[in-house]
Amino acid sequence: MTTLKNDTLLRALLKQPVEYTPVWLMRQAGRYLAEYNATRARAGDFLALCKTPDFATEVTLQPLARFPLDAAILFSDILTIPDAMGLGLYFSQGEGPMFKHPLREEKEILALAVPDPSEKLRYVLDAVSQIRKALDNRVPLIGFSGSPFTLACYMVEGRGGTEFREIKTLLYQRPELLHHILDINARAITAYLNAQIESGAQVAMIFDTWGGALSQAAYQEFSLRYIQQILAGLKREQDGQRIPSIVFTKGGGLWLEAIAASGCDAVGLDWTIDIGEARRRVGDKVALQGNLDPSVLFASPAVITAEVDKILTSYGNGSGHVFNLGHGISQFTPPENAAALVEAVHTLSRKFHIMSN
Ligand code: CP3
Repeated sequence: MTTLKNDTLLRALLKQPVEYTPVWLMRQAGRYLAEYNATRARAGDFLALCKTPDFATEVTLQPLARFPLDAAILFSDILTIPDAMGLGLYFSQGEGPMFKHPLREEKEILALAVPDPSEKLRYVLDAVSQIRKALDNRVPLIGFSGSPFTLACYMVEGRGGTEFREIKTLLYQRPELLHHILDINARAITAYLNAQIESGAQVAMIFDTWGGALSQAAYQEFSLRYIQQILAGLKREQDGQRIPSIVFTKGGGLWLEAIAASGCDAVGLDWTIDIGEARRRVGDKVALQGNLDPSVLFASPAVITAEVDKILTSYGNGSGHVFNLGHGISQFTPPENAAALVEAVHTLSRKFHIMSN
């Protein structure tokens, strides 16, 4: 057993009493930090950052040196899996992620195989163990993956920023081929997350960024079902510690009850839903993570503090809340505003936890 100096995040995810609401920020290591841009320039590019454990460790720790965050998140990307499957990930200037070999032909789809994480994704596992050493048990380390459907969107479209024409054509025209991709992805993600846990990740988070683009029926059949498959195969304990899981479906507010019943410990919320209403809908089933609109961070510290208070008040008394943004922090965020957010959460949340201790 390891003893964390600050295990507030783990306790909140398991709905155990805490003294204050823990906070971390989606994409907390990134371009809004000058020190991140400097390390990225030294590494050459974003992928070199991800693939070199020394650099990945350095940037994972950067936001923690600035702000008293309650968690670190592995610096990597959800697209490492399709890259390991041979699709040829690259980032073109200003266009985001692209694949050299998107999946279009039936024979390419049928040839897809689950990569062995201890070979093709060794660099991620090495980064996880190195980050754990560098953290020295200050705060827990969150490991993550994309969801099967979200990965499939990039694999089939070949890039982001599309209107899902290719993937939705496949979904409606050749559903059995999409199911084939999703099953391979789910098995690859389960092995990958379990390998991260064995290397030292203390929480497992699944990012379902594009599940919200589906109809209700398609969401159940093509996204949530495969998330459930992963959760059923995840290690729940490592070295005597429970490993909580978080599922974040952007745009998933309508399907909250179904997501909460998927077998996860916590559900991530985007900013479109009121967190108090979400809490009433899921009852005691899961913890909730979220859900400040990242654009609030463009306003003044006084406004940020007021918006933080609204979310804390809406969630109300007791544990089971991890404060976060409803999506990734913008590269145009002034870092001092992120500092104001963290301070507001830590200060204003204490009064909501007096009763629960
Ligand atoms: O939170 C963290 O600090 C961990 C790092 C992290 C990154 N990507 C680093 C990154 C995490 C958790 C991700 C997940 C990820 N990657 C998701 C799911 C979460 C979400 O935002 O919905 C998705 C969809 C991706 C795919 C991806 N990677 C996109 C669409 C982009 C371009 C976006 C942009 O902001 O330009 C990336 C690149 C990326 N991943 C960056 C970072 C810090 C920016 C790269 C750079 O330095 O140029």
